[in-house]
Amino acid sequence: MTKIRVNKVYTHLKRSKKKIVVEQGGTRSGKTYNILLWIIFHYCAKHTGQTITIARKTFPAVRSSVMRDFFDILKQHQLYNEDYHNKSNSEYILNGNLVEFVSLDQPQKIRGRKRDLAFLNEANELTFEDWQQIVFRTNGRIILDYNPSDSFHWIYDRVIPREDADFYQTTYQDNPFLDATIVAEIERLKQTDEHYWRVYGLGERGTNRAQVFQFTTYQQLPPQAKFLSYGLDFGFTNDPSALVACYQ
Ligand SMILES: Nc1ncnc2c1ncn2[C@@H]1O[C@H](COP(=O)(O)OP(=O)(O)O)[C@@H](O)[C@H]1O
Ligand SMILES: [Mg+2]
Repeated sequence: MTKIRVNKVYTHLKRSKKKIVVEQGGTRSGKTYNILLWIIFHYCAKHTGQTITIARKTFPAVRSSVMRDFFDILKQHQLYNEDYHNKSNSEYILNGNLVEFVSLDQPQKIRGRKRDLAFLNEANELTFEDWQQIVFRTNGRIILDYNPSDSFHWIYDRVIPREDADFYQTTYQDNPFLDATIVAEIERLKQTDEHYWRVYGLGERGTNRAQVFQFTTYQQLPPQAKFLSYGLDFGFTNDPSALVACYQ
């Protein structure tokens, strides 16, 4: 087997002991590629007879991105064998493991067989309902990767805080395999678009441009703040109640 070069995303997966691994990052930080390397060279090398699902929201997106990278990596390392490739089902047998590429718009596949490992590529495109369906049918680990372009998301609220989840954040600076021209293109954003730079450069959560209020976070109330009223949002079943005090 040829020797592979990896970035820190691969190391996160190797080291993490948690069920869920969240890989948030800026554009081209090496998330997808190194998760695939880990699946091929670590997980599939150590296991056999497992089912691995690699999913994204739509099938055209799966085919043109993560599935293409997967087969490119196999071919580059002389591991690809056409006999193990079921093209009509987008499945591949690797060391006795079934690797299936699916999209969330094929519910029969997602709800079909149980799986041992799931990789949710660009997971921010999925709904919380999509996530729940996958969780119910995955025995082992679930890996998510995404650019945090949303300011609010179920991944932030319902996945990252879980005690069985590890969170990692990477940027293009963590990817030593990028061309200088791409790096320059990403760094241009610093000057041209503050929001894009935040999300795609730094891998930080986006701030919503359409937001009516601008936020500043204070540790203490400013002394001139004048109390207006309290507001109470009653929780229902699992959702907590929330009380806010409003000042001007
Ligand atoms: N370990 C690696 N070996 C070779 N090339 C890599 C490696 N990691 C990343 N790359 C290159 O960097 C590009 C961007 O990485 P990718 O994983 O697609 O970024 P992200 O998913 O974070 O946007 C890949 O298409 C690939 O060309
Ligand atoms: Mg990617």
